[in-house]
Amino acid sequence: MTDLPRIDLSRLMARIDALGRVGALPGGGVCRLALTDEEREGRDLVRGLMEQLELTVTVDPVGNLVGTWPGTEPGPPVMMGSHIDTVRTGGLYDGALGVLAGLEVIEALQRAGARPRRSLAVAAFTNEEGARFAPDMMGSLVFVGDLSVEHARATVGIDGTTVGAELDRIGYAGTDAPTPVHAFVELHIEQGPVLEQEGITIGVVDSVQGIRWTEVTVTGVSNHAGTTPMRLRHDAGYVAGSMVHFVRQLAREIGGDQVATVGSLRLAPDLVNVIPNEAVFTLDLRNTDEIALDRAEARALAHLQALAVDEGVQVEHRALARFEPVRFDAGLVDQVEAAARAEGLSTRRLPSGAGHDAQILARICPAAMIFVPSVGGISHNVNEHTEPEHLEAGANVLLRVVSALAQ
Ligand code: HGY
Ligand code: MN
Ligand code: MN
Repeated sequence: MTDLPRIDLSRLMARIDALGRVGALPGGGVCRLALTDEEREGRDLVRGLMEQLELTVTVDPVGNLVGTWPGTEPGPPVMMGSHIDTVRTGGLYDGALGVLAGLEVIEALQRAGARPRRSLAVAAFTNEEGARFAPDMMGSLVFVGDLSVEHARATVGIDGTTVGAELDRIGYAGTDAPTPVHAFVELHIEQGPVLEQEGITIGVVDSVQGIRWTEVTVTGVSNHAGTTPMRLRHDAGYVAGSMVHFVRQLAREIGGDQVATVGSLRLAPDLVNVIPNEAVFTLDLRNTDEIALDRAEARALAHLQALAVDEGVQVEHRALARFEPVRFDAGLVDQVEAAARAEGLSTRRLPSGAGHDAQILARICPAAMIFVPSVGGISHNVNEHTEPEHLEAGANVLLRVVSALAQ
């Protein structure tokens, strides 16, 4: 397909900048935690762009926002999209690129007078990050039917609010039913160092690694920091700190793709002269190899139990998210690779270290992802950056892939 239109980079960047002003942080970067006022403002902006393109806009009961450009024939759409919620220290591109590039693809095709046979859709899925309300990919899980709306609405966040109350408050508890999807293609920044280090423009994502999130609560005995001999302590903070160290060593020992993170750790009463009687922390374990991931999780929890006995504290843990590794549709992955090569771009196949809505959509239709490089390999960081020519390359590959799928 040689007569394809080109995306308009300046239009795409203007929209990325406009969305980036929603929830902008003083020193740069954005904070649009799921279902906050800032995220609602982002939703309104995206919905406005969908309406400008005269897409049919739907909002389902967990707020998944979908804009559809009807094709010449009836049937499920070729869907693009991602998310617009961010972590607290988010960048301009994580999620936003996939949503805004999808809208740019539709606009470029509309302006070129194209009339795809299949409908084209762009989705902004609710709560992909899972940072405020676990699990991540919550909206797409509901969209594919693997999480009930009731369960999602009842989820309590890190600030004590519930998904349901927040959806109602921001006015995004919709009534439209999720629709079938013909195929799903997500453009996303790599968020890691591989493409940049190898000087590659397009990452052809063939899989997503497994994810295990666990919340651990340690209950010890608060006591005086000065008068309590070390042998008499039941120090919840010591157990939590030991686990931070243990999982780092464990990941190093396992090697390969194994990663381990304690991203959140709260002590109580959180005072300089009181031995903490409570520690609540999160454990994020990931690996492309599910058996190795199972082993890592078992060893971490066994170590936690041994520490609890040794320190004389109680421990409880609950799963916040559990996703098995996912392989994307081989045929669609090949199409992404061929499209990138047809654009004259360098490519490399790789797994995704981050979770994405595409891995959930893969449960109901062929799904694949296109990665573009992250400068310095950083993300979930206000300095997240991707070069304009890579944004353009990724969006043109997206246009090429979905144009072929839609014909
Ligand atoms: O945590 C993740 O992998 C994604 O950013 N939700
Ligand atoms: Mn993302
Ligand atoms: Mn993210």
